[in-house]
Amino acid sequence: MTERIVLAYSGGLDTSVAIGWIGEATGAEVIAVAVDVGQGGESLETIRQRALGCGAVEAYVADARDEFANEYAMPTLKANALYQGHYPLVSAISRPVIVKHLVKAAREFGATTVAHGCTGKGNDQVRFEVGIQTLGPDLKCIAPVRDLALTRDKAIAFAEEKGLPIETTKKNPYSIDQNVWGRAVETGYLEDIWNAPTKDIYDYTATPEFPPAPDEVTISFQAGVPVAIDGVKVTPLQAIQELNRRAGAQGVGRIDVVEDRLVGIKSREIYEAPGAMALITAHKHLEDITIEREQARFKATVGQRWAELVYDGQWFSPLKRSLDAFIEDTQQYVSGDIRMVLHGGQAIVNGRRSETSLYDFDLATYDTGDTFDQSMARGFIELWGMSSKVASGRDLRVTGE
Ligand code: ARG
Repeated sequence: MTERIVLAYSGGLDTSVAIGWIGEATGAEVIAVAVDVGQGGESLETIRQRALGCGAVEAYVADARDEFANEYAMPTLKANALYQGHYPLVSAISRPVIVKHLVKAAREFGATTVAHGCTGKGNDQVRFEVGIQTLGPDLKCIAPVRDLALTRDKAIAFAEEKGLPIETTKKNPYSIDQNVWGRAVETGYLEDIWNAPTKDIYDYTATPEFPPAPDEVTISFQAGVPVAIDGVKVTPLQAIQELNRRAGAQGVGRIDVVEDRLVGIKSREIYEAPGAMALITAHKHLEDITIEREQARFKATVGQRWAELVYDGQWFSPLKRSLDAFIEDTQQYVSGDIRMVLHGGQAIVNGRRSETSLYDFDLATYDTGDTFDQSMARGFIELWGMSSKVASGRDLRVTGE
């Protein structure tokens, strides 16, 4: 029987050419797998037809938008995950859901190998292959760009020679990856890290310098997950979409960073994640009133480690699973409403309320009715500073200063 390979297919030039390229290089039949994670653009049907037109023997297409929002974006929100303090893991969280579908398709169509269009320099190859190794240990991996010398120029020449139903003239200088959680742009002119991004780079966000009137929004959460916007019930996917639209119109969620890739390269990235950044901001502010201090401090460390693991392609790892259990436990009381104003590139919280809040007005107030006994503070401070005081006494004795 002819060997079969499932290919992660985007519908773009490189993966369209990869269908025939892999076929010629390996003699295998190629099955194209297209997964909708909210990247927008062409319909799954159009993409399926193109895959078949480019020589795929089968095309597997999946609308994974709710799955992605519920099982990948929501855990990221609960973790307030920002890699290196900036990046809400847009591409990093889409790879594991695509991997799930690749492995499922490989089983359905009896494939032995999984192929993807990544280069050998990025994080995405790692995320795909580590995920595939974990979910389908018997499956092999191949990356035509990296392993079969499929360069851009050769891809264009191949498409023209074979008359593939794909545009070869449209030149986009950037490498773009997008889904409902956000959008990543890299390469080209951005590789000079002193160059400011030009306007044409952005798609999810409008210029924050000339914003429309301020937009006040109330987001309701239930156990860490958004459940309503301005009182209207929403699914996680709808919450992200609605905030992409409203926060995007105000230029919220533009990120320009140089980040540390897993492969040891520092790289310039432009991200746009209006919905994700508005949601993370709101969620964090709700945690501020509903999570106890020590749990909150520890959770910040856990969230940072979680972001690193996910960035580094360890979505399916045991440590990530254990951290998920901790984070999930912290979300029990993260319920309530956050009111925020979206305007001029910023999402600023100006009100919060929760039935499960730890904010105690009577303890906090400086007005009459205060229930906090200030006389307890003196003794507390005396003991809190005791060990440093003892140590400084020793220092004075030994060094004379
Ligand atoms: N640097 C980001 C990451 O590693 C974005 C990668 C975007 N991928 C792409 N093919 N343009 O998560």
